[in-house]
Amino acid sequence: MPLHPSAPIVVLTGAGISRESGLHTFRDADGIWAQVRIEDVATPEAFARNPRRVQDFYNARRRGLLSPEIRPNPAHAALAELERRWAGEVLVVTQNIDDLHERASSKTLIHMHGELLKVFCAHCRFTQEIRTDLSVEDVCPNCGRKGGLRPDVVWFGEMPYHMERIYEALTGCDLFVSIGTSGNVYPAAGFVAEAGAAGALTVELNLEPSAGATLFDRSIQGPATEVVPAFVRDLLAGAV
Ligand code: APR
Repeated sequence: MPLHPSAPIVVLTGAGISRESGLHTFRDADGIWAQVRIEDVATPEAFARNPRRVQDFYNARRRGLLSPEIRPNPAHAALAELERRWAGEVLVVTQNIDDLHERASSKTLIHMHGELLKVFCAHCRFTQEIRTDLSVEDVCPNCGRKGGLRPDVVWFGEMPYHMERIYEALTGCDLFVSIGTSGNVYPAAGFVAEAGAAGALTVELNLEPSAGATLFDRSIQGPATEVVPAFVRDLLAGAV
């Protein structure tokens, strides 16, 4: 029976949806973790041990994201179109820290791993947008202290953002779609089980079967810029 046109939908995205926009994934052969170790740049301990190295890592990624050739791709655009045309809620939960979903005009969006274009102060938790490099010398405009300003990114060992709202959405949705994620990192890798247990249809759209592919009702392989627009077309035509 096709999905009811006002059924709530939750979409989880990972680095694979941004790959064809020119941003590297993490665990592919040419991925970020093949160039640098998580323990050196993506943990609170790394920041305490060598803040300059961590700032340099995120400054390079921020500069990359802001370069003119990095733009949303047809997969980001298809999800924004689905949100506009679907009668029910379409919540995008992204693990990505890029702003490509926003630039494609997705509105109902959660960044569970934070945002590269935001900074927060570890001393007073003040946050603000940032489009420049961050330095260990920077002073927090709110509390005036130095050395606490860090990328507003969730590191390994830290709690992802908005988990309560995410679980609420997972247990209430009729369709859960996972796009461009390897299914290696929890809690996101467990979302399919949550949604499935609550009765949702679960679909994976990925270049290759993820670690959790067998947990999905359907697993569709292909590049996101092809499989996501095609799936959104089927959804809007009442063919899912
Ligand atoms: N289209 C669709 N999927 C793709 C494409 C593409 N063009 N290119 C790669 N993929 C798939 C890969 O096959 C892989 O399954 O995207 C997935 C990317 O997996 P990862 O590199 O592990 O990225 P992700 O799943 O988002 O990582 C989750 O881990 O390192 C942490 O915080 C980081 O948010 C990240 C989290």
